[in-house]
Amino acid sequence: MILKDEHGRNDPCWCGSGKKWKKCHYPQPEPQNRADIAKFYFDRYHILLKTPEEIRGIRAACALAADILNATCEKAKAGVTTSELNDYAHGLHVKAHAIPGPLHFGYPPYPKSICTSLNEVICHGIPDDRPLQEGDILNIDVSPILNGYYGDCSRMVFIGNVSPEKAHVSKVSYDCLKRAIAALKPGLPFSIIGNTIEAYATAQGCSVVNQFVAHGVGKEFHEEPQIPHYRNTLDIPMVAGMTFTIEPMINAGVREAVIDPIDQWTARTKDGKPSAQWEHTILMTNEGYEVLTTWE
Ligand code: MF3
Ligand code: CO
Repeated sequence: MILKDEHGRNDPCWCGSGKKWKKCHYPQPEPQNRADIAKFYFDRYHILLKTPEEIRGIRAACALAADILNATCEKAKAGVTTSELNDYAHGLHVKAHAIPGPLHFGYPPYPKSICTSLNEVICHGIPDDRPLQEGDILNIDVSPILNGYYGDCSRMVFIGNVSPEKAHVSKVSYDCLKRAIAALKPGLPFSIIGNTIEAYATAQGCSVVNQFVAHGVGKEFHEEPQIPHYRNTLDIPMVAGMTFTIEPMINAGVREAVIDPIDQWTARTKDGKPSAQWEHTILMTNEGYEVLTTWE
């Protein structure tokens, strides 16, 4: 005979989380092969591990994203409007038989094809008719859909000479992205990303936005998991076949964001101080990782 199971899989977990035991501390068998691992990650976290065919598609979408981003950044000069940058980038999507992910996305439907976030705008700035001016810092964010697959990347552009504060926040954001990427390793938890970023950004006198997060990407625009750029305890191990963004939003002043009540998209720093962001899409591999949106 076998000992009766005193504690059922559907009972509350002994740890007091309030979740079912099977969804919490129930001992998990080590998954053996790719299909088992993919099923485990989807069932437990709703994370999609990509097949080699899907990775080919995502790789192509990411290469296109980086190309469009680079070409659009080259056009960003004093006197040019962000609306003109949008139209140029839109044309590059059409030429490549791609769809701009942001266009009509969400609610209220996002009205443009790229995001252009100037100075104190943290993210989701909407292209408009304001000409770029000497001293502006601008984030351009490009996310095409190619053959049904998504790529996502962004970077900063300086318009002429910028203030030391703006140059600093942009460099810190770039270094945060580089450091988070360098820390990636299969088997490590996702929390390594935010913990690396917040430790570095705060040591440099900057703050990390916590109202927006990075995300799984590839088959959908925004997939699980949501990945914080701030200190956190997200203990899901990274494994080969995951595709996700890292996109630290770093502020020169306070971390708080205020969303524009009229357009309901533009997110600005609460204190009006500058903000900067750089973004890549990453693929985890058995050996380590690959940056799919390299622009260098
Ligand atoms: N790259 C941005 C993101 O990851 C794109 C936002 S599109 C928008 O969310 F429509 F939400 F603005
Ligand atoms: Co993104």
